[in-house]
Amino acid sequence: MSPREDVERGDPVALMETVLDRKVMHRGKVRDTYELDDERLLMVATDRISAYDHVLPNGIPDRGKVLTQLSIYWFGQTHHFQENHLISGMVPDLPGNLVHQRDQLRARFMIVRKAKRVNIECVVRGYLAGSAWEEYKETGAVAGEKLPAGLQQSERLPVPLFTPATKALKGHDENITFAQMKRKVGKALAEKLRDASLELYKYAAEMAEKRGLILADTKFEFGTIGKKVILIDEALTPDSSRYWDAARYQVGGTPESYDKQFVRDWLSKSGWDRNSQPPRLPDEIVDQTRQRYLTAYHMVVGKPLFPPKERNE
Ligand SMILES: Nc1ncnc2c1ncn2[C@@H]1O[C@H](COP(=O)(O)OP(=O)(O)OP(=O)(O)O)[C@@H](O)[C@H]1O
Ligand SMILES: [Mg+2]
Repeated sequence: MSPREDVERGDPVALMETVLDRKVMHRGKVRDTYELDDERLLMVATDRISAYDHVLPNGIPDRGKVLTQLSIYWFGQTHHFQENHLISGMVPDLPGNLVHQRDQLRARFMIVRKAKRVNIECVVRGYLAGSAWEEYKETGAVAGEKLPAGLQQSERLPVPLFTPATKALKGHDENITFAQMKRKVGKALAEKLRDASLELYKYAAEMAEKRGLILADTKFEFGTIGKKVILIDEALTPDSSRYWDAARYQVGGTPESYDKQFVRDWLSKSGWDRNSQPPRLPDEIVDQTRQRYLTAYHMVVGKPLFPPKERNE
């Protein structure tokens, strides 16, 4: 792939392996993770975007920066009650051999403490959406927990629910009950992760509400370093969470999500079968989606990611 194609695809830092002289440790749909040494990882969010489990042929400029800066923002807002893996997202803290990559990496990387991942997706839901709505329609319960009858799609739940899932190596994560989680990781750790997840969710949902956003649900990952349990991965980004615009929220349907709505709508209309190679997103869809991400950042944080340049006139 030529560097030009990399940038198109949303991989502005795809050549880093040669610089770091270490292979990428993990390549997700969006992020590339490198091992800096035995204790530290470098996580780089590219501008790649996926929909219906496919990475699309072209990326959304600056998307990786929005995702990284939102994670960093939330790590900062929550570290007084929940320790996390972030060491730094600042350019001067990049290792010396990455100095020439700093312009590509700026704002889209995190240096983090390497942890032993707990293989559970810690999902918290405040509203009835996605797979929880499907489960409720069929069984009247979510994650094995009976809920009041007659709830509607996207309705606020009486209390936020912890609905864990296993992290599947391949394919889709599978929802499990809390009892199953306890059997997998032990009672004490299961309870600790449930309580930590609920506390994080409540704190973030309340902050988001003040900014005109509903945090419908979100997913956390935790890891251990020695005996310590810390929050890892990304946190409270549009990729790991459902944010809705509070002003447009209505029960009984699917509120527009803040991020990929234009992409999903366009893909549906394009006639793509969701199996073959996905089509290229047209420029206007890329632009509109980029704006959505920047707006999401602005709403959550309360200031723009790229402040308008001051004019010297
Ligand atoms: N501090 C950490 N220590 C160890 N592993 C971590 C840490 N933070 C995140 N991880 C792991 O690194 C990996 C990052 O992968 P990434 O999220 O980019 O892709 P993925 O989860 O495989 O797929 P997807 O793109 O669908 O999310 C995940 O497996 C995550 O659990
Ligand atoms: Mg992931």
